[in-house]
Amino acid sequence: MKKEQLEELRDKCNNCLKCELGKTRNNIVFSDGNPESAKAILIGEAPGENEDKTGTPFVGRAGKLLNEFLEKAGISRAEELYIINTVKCRPPQNRVPTDEEKALCSEFLLKQIEIVNPKLIIFCGATALKSFYPKKTPISKIRGEVLELEIGEKTRKCIPIFHPSYLLRYHSLEEGSPRYLMLKDLEKIKSML
Ligand code: URA
Repeated sequence: MKKEQLEELRDKCNNCLKCELGKTRNNIVFSDGNPESAKAILIGEAPGENEDKTGTPFVGRAGKLLNEFLEKAGISRAEELYIINTVKCRPPQNRVPTDEEKALCSEFLLKQIEIVNPKLIIFCGATALKSFYPKKTPISKIRGEVLELEIGEKTRKCIPIFHPSYLLRYHSLEEGSPRYLMLKDLEKIKSML
């Protein structure tokens, strides 16, 4: 069962102090969603204050906006997605995690991907994209494109989308606007699940 394997991994993560982030966390933020029914893994950047308090990813302002978009696209967060971050502990002042922190945490991320074995991986924002995609293509140029990437032992279908924190700055839903494009990308993802 995926749930049991993931629980074992969560316990290991709970004891992890491999990088500095472990010293200041209140909680690890391991995952959200149902790994048995999830068709896609959504990878964000890192936990923020609300996530560190609750132990659940995407529960703050950005998370609420993500929920609104998922609902509009008809994607069930609880059943169709398994949501994780590139690092499991909150970086101080919500700074971007360093390459070293991401590398030390990748053990957990890669194992989660292997266990859940999703049809699709969604890179939510530039930090997640850069962790797996070496070229410097900006997210605005590559979002919505299906990439085939070697992750672990497998070639996996991946799709980058905007991070909801970016969308908090733009309110228009006009054709071509960031929010419009986010909805189109999520509708495309829904059709692939
Ligand atoms: N932003 C992220 O990238 N992940 C979270 O869990 C919350 C906000």
